[in-house]
Amino acid sequence: MIIQDETKRIFTLQTCNTTYQMKADQNGLLLHTYYGPKIREGDLSRLIRYADRGFSPNPNEAGNDRTYSLDTLPQEYSGSGAGDFRLPSLELELSDGSHVADLRYTGSQQERGKYALEGLPSFFAPEDQAETLVITLEDAVAQVRVEMLYGVFEDCDLITRAVRITNRGGKPVRLRRAASLCLDFPSAQLDFITFDGGHVKERGLNRTPLRPGIQSVGSIRGISSHQHNPFIMLCEPSADEDHGTCYGAALVYSGNFEAAVERAQFEDARLTLGIHPFHFCWTLEPGEVFTTPEAAMICSPRGFGQMSRQFHRAVREHLLRDVWRDRRKPVLVNSWEAAYFDFDTPKLLRLAREAANLGVELFVLDDGWFGHRDDDSSSLGDWWANEKKLPGGLGALATEINALGMEFGLWIEPEMVSEDSQLYQKHPDWALNPPSRPHTRGRCQLVLDYTRPEVREYVAQALEKLLKTAHISYLKWDMNRALTQVWSAALPSERQGEVYHRYVLGVYDLLERVRAMSPGTLIEGCSGGGGRFDMGMLYYTPQIWCSDNTDAIDRLRIQYGTSFAYPPSTMGAHVSAVPNEQTGRSVPLETRGTVAMSGTFGYEMDLGTLPEEEKNLVRHQIRDYRESYQLIQSGDYYRLSPPSPDGAPTAWLHVSQDRREALLCVVSGQVHAGPPFRCLRLKGLDPEKQYRVTGGEELWPGDVLMEAGFPLPMLREYQSLRLWLKAE
Ligand code: GLA
Repeated sequence: MIIQDETKRIFTLQTCNTTYQMKADQNGLLLHTYYGPKIREGDLSRLIRYADRGFSPNPNEAGNDRTYSLDTLPQEYSGSGAGDFRLPSLELELSDGSHVADLRYTGSQQERGKYALEGLPSFFAPEDQAETLVITLEDAVAQVRVEMLYGVFEDCDLITRAVRITNRGGKPVRLRRAASLCLDFPSAQLDFITFDGGHVKERGLNRTPLRPGIQSVGSIRGISSHQHNPFIMLCEPSADEDHGTCYGAALVYSGNFEAAVERAQFEDARLTLGIHPFHFCWTLEPGEVFTTPEAAMICSPRGFGQMSRQFHRAVREHLLRDVWRDRRKPVLVNSWEAAYFDFDTPKLLRLAREAANLGVELFVLDDGWFGHRDDDSSSLGDWWANEKKLPGGLGALATEINALGMEFGLWIEPEMVSEDSQLYQKHPDWALNPPSRPHTRGRCQLVLDYTRPEVREYVAQALEKLLKTAHISYLKWDMNRALTQVWSAALPSERQGEVYHRYVLGVYDLLERVRAMSPGTLIEGCSGGGGRFDMGMLYYTPQIWCSDNTDAIDRLRIQYGTSFAYPPSTMGAHVSAVPNEQTGRSVPLETRGTVAMSGTFGYEMDLGTLPEEEKNLVRHQIRDYRESYQLIQSGDYYRLSPPSPDGAPTAWLHVSQDRREALLCVVSGQVHAGPPFRCLRLKGLDPEKQYRVTGGEELWPGDVLMEAGFPLPMLREYQSLRLWLKAE
């Protein structure tokens, strides 16, 4: 609910469990007065203190009042160069060379439903499920108008923000920085939690108290990156899974980003989140508008678990768009780890036949099917089948796969070009690169200049043709290198600072076109695994390959970190062969299944090589997955015990909305002789219900399971449990 007090100029956003408030003061400064656990009513600007602080300057309107300073007041959207020395949200470069941005309130407007952002992904809702508030600020000298957009989704405690910036003057204005979100906290007694790592080790949780100064994570790789995720948290130092106030903020964006937190001189803190200012410079001609990507925030008064469940709900109900949001996704087998580049039609059909016999529903042909690609050094851009490997092309192969009772899916990497390709021979300038510099290659390949409509048009036509030549019901959209030498032949020198962002807009444009070409096709996002696992991509691709690391024990940590913001149903997770490619570790098939089944499930191996006993287990897993799909897809997710390879088993629980059913998953790490007796306290059950646990005779009261716990059997190293709890 949005409550506007127009006389006092107070704006309050109420969600089920939280309150957010701002106030435009007597000078038109938009002050942030509160964000936290729900408060019923009132003007919270009484929390703001005014004091004469040395070296904190006073704006002109304050006259000689030395207690009024932009440097000490909590700002809703900080300017720059005008007396607030903390993290800026907006930095302008005006035609006179000045870099001042100084914003004042000019008006507000409330709308039913949720605003949309042209060309950018954003949360959405039917008119009766969300509201929009637009607050307008203006820098009168620069003649720049800033519209602050707020979307309020009461049920899931979600508040979204985006900013629209308009040049209302007669001369060009350059944007040097335009954050999507600025959030001031009265106290810096907060921990900063980020999700970091690298290729094959994405989204490990890191927690640290704020120290004086600015601490930040971000990406200048052109993609949101394996190294840092565009989702961060701030929380009370005592907060944990079930207690304490915590804040989560995600950028709904897939390119360069920066999440920065400053612990300032008076022990207050500021968070800004938005496009990374590195090499960002956007020219606004008179009348032009720039829209920032959207940021999404959820505050939980009751720990991380509740915040995650609210994010999961928000993503499932208000960000994932197509039929696949509700439809069960097929169990797939992917050819990559089974065949790499070394295959032909008979080999693929053998893999597919084995998989079909075991109940797999979708066969995905990964890399190596196009141009003359036999390794990763050629052919990206030449999106037609290699008839030497696949006589009769994709159409013939897809028909044979379909005849086995399976759907057919295909890997593509449409943002890339190999120098050894017909496309590059014809259009060398379609790769991002200043002509004066030699190429920097990544995985032997270059990045196409998606800022150019003709480049996107070429790729769109190639994909359209592909989708017509074969019945393709799934696409894996990959992106396998970071951007370097970022320069477009189509833009003048003074606009090169726009290329990173225009690239991302180009990717979104093409994804939208491909979705429209083939509305029922399931698209899985991928960037060398989880290099672009973000809410921007999820708007177009309802699942994302979580990591190229398919080792089940490593995956526990990756899926755990990912679960803080993203629902299990969005995480591509496959069972692969042992010993594992990346780690050399051998984990029982049962455990590989337990881990992968808590994501969008599939296999990535030659199923024909399995002994009969394991084939039966695969049949069983597929049946199990189908049975548990609904619960994993739409149930609530509880983290019970975090991954710790040398300690207690990792455990999590999926609980149905009516709390009548739950699925308990437990995976043991390293085991030492003489292990302790372990009891696991469950969460989210109905304390008054009696649950029967798979295979057991006894009934367990919900309160016993949650307060006293469930006794775990002694588990061997890497052994797992997958137990159903059903209320009677
Ligand atoms: C990336 C993907 C893998 C696979 C290969 C193919 O690394 O993450 O799953 O598709 O590309 O080249």
